[in-house]
Amino acid sequence: MSFAARFILYYFIIFVSEARVQEYSPVCRGLLSEELIKEIGSYRHVKDEIFRYVLDGDFKRRTYDELAKFVDIFGGRPSGSKVLEDSIDYMIQLTQQEGIQDIVTEDVEVPHWVRETEKLTMVQPRIKNISILGLGKSVSTPSNGLSAEVIVVRNFDELEKIPDKDVEGKIVLFDPKFTSYSETVVYRSQGAVKAGAKGAVASLVRSIAPFSINSPHTGNQNYEDKVKKIPTAAISLEDADLIRRIYDRKEKVVLNITMSSTYDTKISRNTLIDLKGTNYPEQLVIVSGHIDSWDVGQGAMDDGGGLFISWAAPLILKRLNLRPKRTLRSIFWTAEELGLVGAYAYEEKHRDKNHNINFIMEADGEGTFAPRGLVVGGTSKARCIVAEVLKLFESVNATTLVESNSFGTDIDVFIKKGIPGATLHTSNERYYWFHHTAGDTMNVEDPDELDLCTAFWTSVAYIVADISADIPR
Ligand SMILES: *[C@@H]1O[C@H](CO)[C@@H](O)[C@H](O)[C@H]1NC(C)=O
Ligand SMILES: *[C@@H]1O[C@H](CO)[C@@H](O)[C@H](O)[C@H]1NC(C)=O
Ligand SMILES: *[C@@H]1O[C@H](CO)[C@@H](O)[C@H](O)[C@H]1NC(C)=O
Ligand SMILES: [Zn+2]
Repeated sequence: MSFAARFILYYFIIFVSEARVQEYSPVCRGLLSEELIKEIGSYRHVKDEIFRYVLDGDFKRRTYDELAKFVDIFGGRPSGSKVLEDSIDYMIQLTQQEGIQDIVTEDVEVPHWVRETEKLTMVQPRIKNISILGLGKSVSTPSNGLSAEVIVVRNFDELEKIPDKDVEGKIVLFDPKFTSYSETVVYRSQGAVKAGAKGAVASLVRSIAPFSINSPHTGNQNYEDKVKKIPTAAISLEDADLIRRIYDRKEKVVLNITMSSTYDTKISRNTLIDLKGTNYPEQLVIVSGHIDSWDVGQGAMDDGGGLFISWAAPLILKRLNLRPKRTLRSIFWTAEELGLVGAYAYEEKHRDKNHNINFIMEADGEGTFAPRGLVVGGTSKARCIVAEVLKLFESVNATTLVESNSFGTDIDVFIKKGIPGATLHTSNERYYWFHHTAGDTMNVEDPDELDLCTAFWTSVAYIVADISADIPR
């Protein structure tokens, strides 16, 4: 390798593998005043105080213990269910018991889809039961099920190339290879529409996950008005791969699917908890997570962890008598899983005052594993301020700033409107193993990692809510 090539490669490795916050140094030079940089640096002692309180003080393990109690009492909290409303009441009571009274709820009309019978049997070339999980809002099959031959396609292009007459009356199985969630998830969210448009009678998807112990992963999907709605479900990686192998051997695979569900709407609530700012109470820094979850599992990871670290932030600041200049608002979104419904309702309801949102944070999409930094949406200058804040978290290795303007979570609704914001970035390597499965339980969570997330989340929120500079748009 030539020196130049080696130099470029070396430079590339350094550039990409170093904590990404360092990319910001050249970008940020000149964007932030020396005073602001110094001011942000001066929050080190406050950050240390918060970390001591959470890692070694009275709050140690509190996030984990409260989350465990919550998910053990309520389990899954699907949109529109009574159990979700009960869990919202519980969170309000828990917060009041901690001496915080500034709590309001706002009604939101939400989807209420209830999974009933789900059964899938391979009937040819041999009888085998296959684990199945219907996707959000799926319609039912006829009551005695449907039985049809399967065609297996890797992607939408492959499906398009097959003549309609060869798809009509069949079950389409999409078996995309998992690359990233955002790239692969379209086969879950749009599979039924694409297969339905070609005349299929049902649509299945290989679960959107990189790893499996034969557990299907549910998730939302969206029908289109002009396309016949067909039943749609996920199967495990193992069963999808089995069907693919048989199919590739040119053997006919016949499946019998029985699914039933009900679908209507109900009233749910977003919950807003305020720690009023001392100087600019009308200005908001928001921390948030969604309180609803899928019906399977306990919703401990998605999004119980994000919910509880956001619950903890105003509480910890109150305990430590740290009142930021701007108001810190903690929001528990409702009905995220069925389409960011609570977030859309909030944005619409408060639209004439949304210029007051200085920064919006949500912990969702990467779980509450050890914190690594933030995924930040906004202008370069907004990111530079956040990058400067992240420098304070070097001792816990949470300095990484990932750039994005699309998170796949509630705050996308606000980022799209030009409001700067961030999601929690974690050591999320195992996130999609558990995502939307019966395995999303308390066993995924770790008390020490949760403490780190709580301390990090609270510190970042406090600093952003208190510094002299607004986060620019
Ligand atoms: C499939 O599951 C049913 C129960 O739903 C059970 O009765 C049957 O024995 C199972 N079949 C096989 C082949 O395992
Ligand atoms: C599907 O299987 C069930 C038994 O699990 C059977 O009663 C039903 O008739 C089958 N449906 C079709 C359409 O073959
Ligand atoms: C720090 O975080 C990076 C990812 O940002 C990770 O690759 C590295 O292993 C972490 N180091 C420690 C000591 O945890
Ligand atoms: Zn989530």
